[in-house]
Amino acid sequence: MQTNEPFSESILASPAKINLHLRVLGIREDGYHELDTLFYPVTGLYDTIRIEPGHDGHMFMRCPERPELESASNLIYKAWKAFGEATGYQPGMFVTLNKNIPMGGGLGGGSSNGATMLRWLNENAGSKALPMDELIALAAKLGADVPFFLMDGPAHARGIGEKLTPADVALTGMTLLIALPDLHVDTPWAFREWDETNGSPKYSDSLTTHDNDTKNPSPVSAPQVVNDLEPVVFAKHPTLRKIKETIIRSGAVSAAMSGSGASLFGLYRDRGLAVSTAVALKKDGLEIFVTDCQ
Ligand code: C5P
Repeated sequence: MQTNEPFSESILASPAKINLHLRVLGIREDGYHELDTLFYPVTGLYDTIRIEPGHDGHMFMRCPERPELESASNLIYKAWKAFGEATGYQPGMFVTLNKNIPMGGGLGGGSSNGATMLRWLNENAGSKALPMDELIALAAKLGADVPFFLMDGPAHARGIGEKLTPADVALTGMTLLIALPDLHVDTPWAFREWDETNGSPKYSDSLTTHDNDTKNPSPVSAPQVVNDLEPVVFAKHPTLRKIKETIIRSGAVSAAMSGSGASLFGLYRDRGLAVSTAVALKKDGLEIFVTDCQ
């Protein structure tokens, strides 16, 4: 059995994300959709992961707020298992997950948790640590949004989210409002609907110039937010379109859905407007989160 060096307790923040823009470029040969997306970390909204030394080769996980997450399908467990299989570093541990990021809203909470575990393991693996490209490939196998959370800031992504380039995003001084309607959008359904509406276009790697794939020449500003999945998701859930319109009318510079929904976000130059909109939307029964952009 693998014996690992002892380690001391760590408490880690596992942040949320939004997609400032999300373009769907077509259907790949593997059935996934080629994306062009800009991920933005929401560091003010985060889960906490506490890692304590445990028994060799075993992981025990607790999630007091959501006990249903204490399962082998949790990405924290899957990350620990996959990293152990790939590297031989599989330290025994007790993990406590404190959940703040709302689930199923396109904010990447589960993906972030998995990536936070991968990052911790790689930092503690000594000579068994993986080079970054191999860590990203391992993360992509766990889920399309996982690799982004290995980065340390906003990132432009291609592929299904694994071809990452740090991005220059000029949102400093703005306030971000996130609205979380109490409904769930099924991601595979959203992509299938996009296929039907757009004539199922195939994506061919050879049709793109790779120079443009990896460069992010100019800083992205707030008005450029866009999400290609909005038309199909809004057609099924008109209430989401109404919330987006409310956010725009309240004075946001721009607003969009994140990922495949159901969360919507707005960017405000005036913090007071964001806060008063948050109060109004809360009265409508929506869960709201407000934070300053960095
Ligand atoms: O990787 P993730 O679990 O987020 O993907 C869920 C599903 O969404 C996939 O099984 C696939 O049907 C669809 N998807 C896609 N193209 C992507 C990401 C997700 O078709 N780039």
